[in-house]
Amino acid sequence: MEKLIKAIEQLKREKNAVILGHYYQQGEIQDIADYVGDSLALAQWAARTEADIIVMCGVHFMGETAKVLCPDKKVLVPDMAAGCSLADSCPADRFEQFIKEHPGHTVISYVNTTAAVKALTDVVVTSTNARQIVESFPKDEKIIFGPDRNLGNYINSVTGRNMLLWDGACHVHEQFSVEKLVEIKRQHPEALVLAHPECKSVVLKLADVVGSTAALLKYAVAHPEKTYIVATESGILHEMRKKCPDTTFIPAPPADSTCACNECSYMRLNTLQKLYDCLLNESPEITVDAAVAEKAVRPIKRMLEISAKLYL
Ligand code: 13P
Ligand code: SF4
Repeated sequence: MEKLIKAIEQLKREKNAVILGHYYQQGEIQDIADYVGDSLALAQWAARTEADIIVMCGVHFMGETAKVLCPDKKVLVPDMAAGCSLADSCPADRFEQFIKEHPGHTVISYVNTTAAVKALTDVVVTSTNARQIVESFPKDEKIIFGPDRNLGNYINSVTGRNMLLWDGACHVHEQFSVEKLVEIKRQHPEALVLAHPECKSVVLKLADVVGSTAALLKYAVAHPEKTYIVATESGILHEMRKKCPDTTFIPAPPADSTCACNECSYMRLNTLQKLYDCLLNESPEITVDAAVAEKAVRPIKRMLEISAKLYL
């Protein structure tokens, strides 16, 4: 593995590439990445990098967002099959029809969407800035929110809005078992539950803190003396344990598995070897249709402007 890591670092220097990694990537990819972050941070870093090549160690829509923001750069993903069940739950043609059926609405889309869906959107959000962006609209604004019904329901509940929701979900976050979570809470009565807003409302009701991957990490770093049960993809535990080595983090388990962790099969397709291969071959490369990109860039930039004070 040492040899592979050195070879990746050398290729990265030779090709003036930057490696961006999401918190759900395997630990060794997070360790080699130049920047590790949530969806918002990845978009921000992509927008400001001076590298010639962006290697997006995440899933396809993250690569697309980077490509839309940086059309002149080469954007690579280690495995082109790294998709997203949430993005897949919202095909652009059906979303367009939904928008037509509900005229007069502002369209807010979660970043976990294809560029084609973003092209139909007024403003993009991530789980870090969704509440802030929804609240930036007047209380009586008619809003369509897609594709995640759980995030949409959560934002409706904390803002008192009544956004019209697309009926999509992430197969990983829908999987958490309330029964198993209650049992872990019984075994660790002192533990706090950290949950991502893509989880079902029954799970969020059991949570002490609801937030994006970055928000959950931030909370744990600010309160390292606690014990945490973490209801999101278990890759985040890598950075949590790195930042808080003396804190106990327990992954919340999925319902239909004997495995204790809940992993995103798409995120985990990327490996160090594939990262090396993609840098060497400069492939697979993300492409976005120019007409789609021209429309999709506006709602992404609008999001970056509204949330400019977050992170960078
Ligand atoms: P964040 O990294 O924005 O919290 O999103 C989680 C996720 O599911 C990414 O696919
Ligand atoms: Fe998509 Fe869910 Fe995987 Fe995130 S965890 S990339 S939302 S399938």
